[in-house]
Amino acid sequence: MEPVDHDNVLIFDTTLRDGEQAPGFSMRIDEKLALARQLDALGVDIIEAGFPIASEADAEAVRLIATRVRRPIIAGLARCAAVDIECAGRAVSPAARPRIHTFIATSDLHLERKLRLSRQDALDAAVASVRAARQYTDDVQFSAEDATRSDVDYLCRVVEAVIDAGATTVNLPDTVGYSTPDEIAAFFTEVRSRVPNAGRAVFSTHCHNDLGLAVANTLSAVAAGVRQVECTINGIGERAGNASLEEVVMVSRVRPDRARFTTAIQTPELYPTSQLLTRLTGEPVQANKAVVGRNAFAHEAGIHQDGVLKDRRTYEIMHPEDVGVPRTTLVLGKHSGRHAVARRCEEMGHTLSRFEVDRVYRQMIALADRQKGVSDEDLRAIVAEVKAAAEVKGIETAGPTPISEAADQARRPTRRVRALPLPATPSEYGYGHGV
Ligand code: KIV
Ligand code: ZN
Repeated sequence: MEPVDHDNVLIFDTTLRDGEQAPGFSMRIDEKLALARQLDALGVDIIEAGFPIASEADAEAVRLIATRVRRPIIAGLARCAAVDIECAGRAVSPAARPRIHTFIATSDLHLERKLRLSRQDALDAAVASVRAARQYTDDVQFSAEDATRSDVDYLCRVVEAVIDAGATTVNLPDTVGYSTPDEIAAFFTEVRSRVPNAGRAVFSTHCHNDLGLAVANTLSAVAAGVRQVECTINGIGERAGNASLEEVVMVSRVRPDRARFTTAIQTPELYPTSQLLTRLTGEPVQANKAVVGRNAFAHEAGIHQDGVLKDRRTYEIMHPEDVGVPRTTLVLGKHSGRHAVARRCEEMGHTLSRFEVDRVYRQMIALADRQKGVSDEDLRAIVAEVKAAAEVKGIETAGPTPISEAADQARRPTRRVRALPLPATPSEYGYGHGV
């Protein structure tokens, strides 16, 4: 079955293979199968399940995924060598939709220094391999490794030849993450316009993140007509990783006015997929990672917490539940404000008077100055202490303060308290140190 190639539908190829190719990220066969099943639930179009010639375990993982995961295309990677093609062909053969992905470098640097091949020899190997792969399946992808640093005349000749030989997808990787968004758009525009048979193949981008530009470059390539994107969950992959699937997808959901493409990705599965990968590899996602990081929907600064509690659009451009994150988190720390303290206490079952909120808030800030964050347990202890102290001293406490009125109340004169006069009205110091 051919991949869908409508003008504005992007084909998502998740490369388990590249994702694994980094220290600390390798997975066992059963773990790869679990992840492939989750990628299926996520709605990816293609899973590049492994590099079968690399090891018996890799070949077995590809075979198992091809057997058990039936909807997406299952691809196996192969160098432009007969033995690789045969191994990949056998591994993907049980798939409902098998693909062989064969590659060879096209930059002079790789040809001369790594492969010690002439340009012509590499071109011949590419053509022979695509033909060989077509013996196993009609779905053959060719990649020109280090394409963005290759001589463009030579690259165009290779691309034309592999399409003639039967390649249905042509992937032009930015293997070392060297390109910039404007450059990669011009690059794809030039190759697609110069290769006479370009219309017979789907063009694909595969961007590495060495300069932190993988997602930007991917989006630029898409704007230049590319219809397949290769990416990974959490942006894992060789060195600084590959373009992060969740980021590319959410750009199209949040900014359809700028990124005019649709995808079959089920976005509520993004966070569960990211979490599964983290559990399987034991490699945590960086806290501030876009879309799936621990802090992506967490707010600590008082002004932000106050804004989000009133209307979350003030500081959130997507709903956490749309990407499968259970909800926005208000983190209590030294930058937090009263509004968030009162809300968290209420969520924990403590309805506090305005006076109590103020005492709890001040103790919370004092604690947060000494330690990194304030947990629910810390807060519970503070609340208990404040309640006990108020009882002992017979402090007059105001009645419960509904959260929605908190800001309004903060502007009014403080209600008088007998035992502990406050230094100022809450609104004068209510945002913690984060203001
Ligand atoms: O980065 C790269 O060039 C690759 C190819 C093998 C597709 O991963
Ligand atoms: Zn790669």
